[in-house]
Order: sequence, then C-alpha cells, then structure tokens
Amino acid sequence: MGSQLFIRKPLSLLLEEMKGENRLRRILGPVQLSALGVGCIIGTGIFVLTGKAAHDTTGPALMLSFVAAGTACIFAALCYAEFASMVPVAGSAYTYAYATMGELFAWIIGWDLILEYSVASSTVAHGWSKYFQDFISILGVHVPYALSTAPFDYNTGLGKMVGTGAILDLPAILITWIVTWILVRGIRESASFNAAMVIIKVIIVFFVIVVGAFYVDPKNWVPFAPYGYSGMSFFGKTVLGQHGAGGEPLGMLAGAGIIFFAYIGFDSVSTHAEEAKNPQRDVPIGIIVSLVLCTVLYIAVAAVLTGMVPYDKLNIEAPVSDAFRQVGLPWAQFLISLGAVAGITSVLLVLMLSQPRVMLAMARDGLVPQSFFGAVHPRFRTPWKSTILTGTFVSVLAGIMPLRILAELVNIGTLLAFVIVCAAVLIMRRTNPNAARPFRCPLVPLIPILGVATCLLLMFALPTENWWRLGIWLAIGFVIYFTYGRYHSEMAKFVPQPNGGTLAPADDREPGLDP
Ligand code: ALA
Repeated sequence: MGSQLFIRKPLSLLLEEMKGENRLRRILGPVQLSALGVGCIIGTGIFVLTGKAAHDTTGPALMLSFVAAGTACIFAALCYAEFASMVPVAGSAYTYAYATMGELFAWIIGWDLILEYSVASSTVAHGWSKYFQDFISILGVHVPYALSTAPFDYNTGLGKMVGTGAILDLPAILITWIVTWILVRGIRESASFNAAMVIIKVIIVFFVIVVGAFYVDPKNWVPFAPYGYSGMSFFGKTVLGQHGAGGEPLGMLAGAGIIFFAYIGFDSVSTHAEEAKNPQRDVPIGIIVSLVLCTVLYIAVAAVLTGMVPYDKLNIEAPVSDAFRQVGLPWAQFLISLGAVAGITSVLLVLMLSQPRVMLAMARDGLVPQSFFGAVHPRFRTPWKSTILTGTFVSVLAGIMPLRILAELVNIGTLLAFVIVCAAVLIMRRTNPNAARPFRCPLVPLIPILGVATCLLLMFALPTENWWRLGIWLAIGFVIYFTYGRYHSEMAKFVPQPNGGTLAPADDREPGLDP
C-alpha cells in the first residue's frame, strides 16, 4: 500500500489523457483567460474585506498588507505558470501534486481545494448580497431583515459569537443558484458573460481610485499602523504582535493573511488550461497579467479608501460605496454598488466554474466516483452533476454562515495549495529535468523557496481556528481516501505486483518528454 500512496502520475500519461474523449471544449484565448483571472480576482476581497481588515486588524497599513499578500502570490503564480504550461489539463494544483508528490499528496490537495472553492464561493456570495442590498436600499427597497443576513455573527469586542436575530441570507442563496444555472448551460456563455462583467468591474475600480483620490485627507493615514506591523500566532499563542479579544492576531501581517482572499482566483486560470486554445503560451500569460494588474489596483484602492475615511469609521459590509456616501457623493455610492454587484457576480461565476473541474480531474483518476463527478453533460459539455452539487453546498454555507467567519476560514487551504505547488516545482525540476517547459519559473530554487516561506508565514498570521478547520476537513478526506479512493484509483494498477513486476512502468521519466 505504501507504494500506492506515493505513486506519481507520469507526465506522459497526463498529456496522453488530454487527447482522450469526454474532454472539455478548447475555446479560450489569452485575453479570455486573463479576463477569467481578473474576473475571479477582483471581487469581495477588495469591495468588502478591505473594510473588515482595515477596521478590525490593520488600519491604513492595509496598503502594506496588500503588498505582502501580493508578493507571496507572485512567487506562487510563477510556479503555477510553469506547471500550467507543462501540464495543461483541468485539475490545477491537484494534477501538479499527482505528477510530482504522488497520490496521497494529490488527494490532500484536491480535497483541500474542494472545501476552499466552496468556502470562497460562499464568502463571495455573501459579499454580493451586501452590495446588492446596499444598491436596492438606495432605490428605497429593503430585503426583510430576517432574510437579509446570517443568523449569527462574531463580535470582535466580546470575542465570541452572538445571534443576529435574522434567519438566513436569501440574496446570497439566490445568486448562488442563478450562477449554478448559468454554469450548467456551458462555458462559452459563461466566458462572454464574464467578459462583460469584468469590463464593468475594472471601470468601477478605476473610478474609485481616480475620483476617491480627490477626497483623500492624509490625516486619515495617521496612525498608519495602529495595530503594528506584525501579527502571528502559533496554535492560539500570539508569537508576534498584538491580539484581539478572541485571541486573533492583529497587525499588518495578520491583515495580509485575511486580505490574501482578494488574490484568490489567479490560480483558477490554470484550472481552465484544458479549455485553452494554446495552453502552453496563454495560461502563463493569463495568470501573470491578471495578478500584476490586480496587485497595483488593490494597493491604490486601499490607499484611497483609508485616506477618505478614518479606518475605524469604515463600514464592514459595503465599505467602498459607503466611503463615497460618507464624503457626500451618494451618486457615486449608487454607481459603485451597481459595479460591485456585477463584479462580484463574475468572481462567483469563475470560482464555481473551477470547483467541478477539480472534481472532474479527481474522478478521471478514480479517486471520487466517476459516474457522478466525471459526468460531462452530453449537450452542454459541462460537468453538470458536480456543478449542481457545488451550488447546493455553497448556497447552504452562504445562507447561514457570517461573512466574518467565512472570510477567515477561507484562506488557509489556498495557502496550503500554493505551498505544495511551489514545492512541486522544485521536485519536478529534479525528477523531470528535461521535460518541455514552455514557461520556466525564473530563479529556481529561490522563487519556489520564497513562495513556500511567504505562504507559510501568511498561514501562521491567520486565527488558529483555521488550522483546526483544515485538520478536521483533512481527517474526513483521509477516511474517504482510505475507504474509497485507494481502491478505485486508476493509478493503482501501476503499483508493484506480488510477483515483483508492475502493470505499468514504475519509472515516470517518460522518454517523449525527457529525452
Ligand atoms: N479574490 C476573490 C475576491 O476577492 C475571491 O472575491
């Protein structure tokens, strides 16, 4: 059994599988891929979590939090780009781990990504709901309070959960189902819908930066870092900086751990490699262009926002539009809420598009049931069953979990995926030194090592509950792997047989790729 846990999926097999049947359609070019990236990156992170992070955790030093989180992402993005160009199939980090670290690691990362995309989608649906409600309230329409928000929330002053008096967040549930319906209908429609949303969103972000700049009062940037520049804890014990009433780390670094959410999404470009027309060239372009563009915009928005309104007066639910209301520009509040609703919709679309594709890759390998997760719709060519399952899971979480909790839980799994991808680049350079790498991560091993180190740092800047959540989810995953996945794995037939042979070559240095 030990050998099965570490069996690696040969690159040649991955590439061979791309030619098989039941594949997704190759219709995405570099512009569409970059748009998918931006579509997934700019959303609840910048429109909603900036308020929570600046107010609760960082103050104006939020600008530096964006620099810190963006730096970790650039290192990881370069590693993702190398892999996406080598193995342009659906599955992203899961597939990369399978090719380098073996089945068990692949399972861990795939299982981890399933939760990650679900919690991220739920967080985004929540953000959508807040801006939607902000927008209709300007028109004088209000969602009944009982149906407007989650039934409980975390009180930072008390450091504990309190009831809100509401029942559920109905707008968050509804948007999740609308997006699920669009996704079941097909990627072409989804990509054009996304492109329209991305254009609106980028215009709104530029608007916030340019118009907001006229209302910046530099006095609001003082004190710059009221909670300090660090913020790290180790399983409940603060090791660097201050902590809040509930023991959560505070400061610029802690803010980076939270605001990292704003960058989640560039990796989703790699999950669409299988639908790219020229994946070797276009996927790395899509990842890097979208990430660099968003980093610059984020730093500018954080500077403008904390300059317009004192950090402790920032609204938690719809901070960007509210800042314009506070400086006396209600028409701008209207425009921004509308743009944010459109922009956040496109994030939800891409996140919920990515998750079933990771499941599809796992199903093809036999680790989850092929008949369900591997089912591609005969007419729409989409993984429709797992898309509907994703929609169900996301709508339940989005309907009852508070934004504060979702936002803190979401990042740790993605950071773990980044750590594994960066490490996998190092391993692959050793095991398959001559494999074709249309895009090569520069300065190896420095960049992958920096990627691992910075992502680990951000993991420890998160509140401790995240580690427990990750541990529990992974424990459930192990049970499923050891009772189902291990027995149904397609790669099991590559495991050495009792007679001493194998059903397939154990050496994965495939001649076609490593001459
Ligand atoms: N980065 C995405 C957002 O901020 C997930 O909404």
